[in-house]
Amino acid sequence: MSTRTVIRGGLVITASDETHADILMEDGRIAALAASNTPAAEALTAERTVDATGKYVIPGGVDAHTHMEMPFGGTFASDTFETGTRAAAWGGTTTIVDFAVQSVGHGLREGLDAWHAKAEGNCAIDYAFHMIVSDVNEDTLKEMDLLVEEGVTSFKQFMAYPGVFYSDDGQILRAMQRAADNGGLIMMHAENGIAIDVLVEQALARGETDPRIHGEVRKALLEAEATHRAIRLAQVAGAPLYVVHVSATEAVAELARARDDGLPVFGETCPQYLFLSTGNLAEPDFEGAKYVCSTPLRPQEHQAALWRGLRSNDLQVVSTDHCPFCFSGQKELGRGDFSRIPNGLPGVENRMDLLHQAVLDGHLTRRRWIETACATPARMFGLYPKKGTIAPGADADVVIYDPAAEQVISADTHHMNVDYSAYEGKRVTGRVETVFSRGVPVVTDREYTGHAGHGVYTPRSTCQYLT
Ligand code: URP
Ligand code: ZN
Ligand code: ZN
Ligand code: ZN
Repeated sequence: MSTRTVIRGGLVITASDETHADILMEDGRIAALAASNTPAAEALTAERTVDATGKYVIPGGVDAHTHMEMPFGGTFASDTFETGTRAAAWGGTTTIVDFAVQSVGHGLREGLDAWHAKAEGNCAIDYAFHMIVSDVNEDTLKEMDLLVEEGVTSFKQFMAYPGVFYSDDGQILRAMQRAADNGGLIMMHAENGIAIDVLVEQALARGETDPRIHGEVRKALLEAEATHRAIRLAQVAGAPLYVVHVSATEAVAELARARDDGLPVFGETCPQYLFLSTGNLAEPDFEGAKYVCSTPLRPQEHQAALWRGLRSNDLQVVSTDHCPFCFSGQKELGRGDFSRIPNGLPGVENRMDLLHQAVLDGHLTRRRWIETACATPARMFGLYPKKGTIAPGADADVVIYDPAAEQVISADTHHMNVDYSAYEGKRVTGRVETVFSRGVPVVTDREYTGHAGHGVYTPRSTCQYLT
């Protein structure tokens, strides 16, 4: 299908530029850009023309941290690849990088194959995989090399969740050494899970069982300590490091110090840490369970450090850590014991809008919005410039965004397969209008026009952020 589309008159925003330009999309790629109202723009013709006057034209979002159908705490994240990628498209995200899981006692390949089977033919938008490494041994280390070669170039390890995903310092060091050698990027869940489990046990013994306690035992200092340790282990291994879901001021400080020393360490935060706080975890009638995730929500004071980190480039990426569990039947597993509440929040549909609101609130510039949500995640995980920007040759993953439309975020209107919204009732200005995935309209004037199976697996090169 060689349909050509021209998008005319919008303000094209990338990580580096803002220009009024017309865009020609052809055969799934961006074929040309030309300044609007010039002869060069008039020469761009196509079967279909979309008028974007008064709108932004931005690259499709790249969400580098999702968990569709993730097994956790005896249940599964409630979005499938079908429902979760459809919701992502609604929210202006056109690529996800999801986490395939290695189970203890099993191989990386086996886990990766299982995730391919869940995703293939079901996705509305393009997808790629990181690999969660939960069992470092000689075989695993060899498999890491093979995965890097075939486009799974990043590996998540956990300093938290002893007995489940946890790796000890020796296992972490060995995986980091391997990554230093094969070009892979280690992504770290940095919380001292051994110490946290002691505090969990002590809290439960005192009869403290409410969701609020989840935030108290998973202390900011234990995130900072683990972040520091991960940085030093990576330094010893000579490997770059990407710390996921950073939430604490003290952890940002560790990253900032290491970066000031010239170390290749990077940090990601998520909308929940920028917009929500321990106040939500303390909501009565067990409603706080809706906000249980790890790292946990922090007192509101931490938000300023996260925004500052995003502006100063001590934090580079905003992704969602989308890992939804319904309140009814799933979060409720932890009534009477906060440690049994499945960890994770929904958000894949909300990220682009919340960050646009952050632009209006003065936290980020428009270009930094696109940089943290599209371009840098694509570069960090080897997808650039195919994904994450609008330039000739790039995939035609393009969003027409109405910066003036007002909306109220609600579970009544969202498309994620979860029975609540973490941002219920929040008013934001800005809304996705039309979304192209490789030139195909998957959302058209606020109607879903995509289909399961349009999205394809996208192998990745190694991290391009180091060069
Ligand atoms: O609470 C969270 N973040 N759940 C998803 C798993 C993880 O640690 O990223
Ligand atoms: Zn994590
Ligand atoms: Zn996660
Ligand atoms: Zn299709």
